[in-house]
Amino acid sequence: MSLKLENVSKTFVKKKENIVVLDKVSYEFEPGKFYAIIGHSGGGKSTLIKILGLLLDFQEGKYLIDGRDVQEMNETELALLRREKIGFVFQDYFLDPYLKAYENVMVPMVVNRKIQGDKKELALSILDSVGLLNRANHFPKELSGGEQQRVAIARAMVNDPKYILADEPTGNLDRKNEKIIFEKLKELSNQGKGIIVVSHSMDIFPYADVVLRIEDGLLEVENAKVNS
Ligand SMILES: Nc1ncnc2c1ncn2[C@@H]1O[C@H](COP(=O)(O)OP(=O)(O)O)[C@@H](O)[C@H]1O
Ligand SMILES: [Mg+2]
Repeated sequence: MSLKLENVSKTFVKKKENIVVLDKVSYEFEPGKFYAIIGHSGGGKSTLIKILGLLLDFQEGKYLIDGRDVQEMNETELALLRREKIGFVFQDYFLDPYLKAYENVMVPMVVNRKIQGDKKELALSILDSVGLLNRANHFPKELSGGEQQRVAIARAMVNDPKYILADEPTGNLDRKNEKIIFEKLKELSNQGKGIIVVSHSMDIFPYADVVLRIEDGLLEVENAKVNS
């Protein structure tokens, strides 16, 4: 499944002024690669990744998922893509404070009829894969920031999406926890998922197959590893 932007432009209106945040951005993302998106604050990184995650619309251009134009899809199709094909991870984790870790992980599965077998067992096995089996019954406030973000990653993984998109997932974490998160995301890209991560941290560079920079509304390839 490829994610392809063709001349996508996004403008916000602020105090009656048009602010062009993305200016005819074109790029095709592929599965099995780790993409880092960098650039100055306010440069449009969150805007771009939200458009890719179908969380934000845009005015001009096309966004094709596996060749299909998202602007021609209905809400049901879009909801299905968001739930089953694209996992999203946010800087602030956005866990439900009233649900235990494993229950948070189960949330996206609830309406997924394709999952066979016991959903709780599956949630526990995914928590295990992020090293948190022993925290399964804890509430978010009983977990460290790094642990909460690992729960959020487990939740994003639970429907086995083709892509995981993350907007500054380590923005609130120290370097040790950042490394754990980046390594987990790298492992997922090695397993064939497309990983797209917005980050301020230079420490993301060694993990990235492709580094993309957004500046003045333009997206450019800063660096791409050979043979990737
Ligand atoms: N909902 C919105 N309404 C108006 N302006 C917005 C909105 N969201 C973002 N912007 C503006 O778009 C620009 C890019 O924002 P953003 O994509 O969040 O940048 P980044 O994530 O790179 O810091 C900023 O100038 C920001 O103020
Ligand atoms: Mg941002």
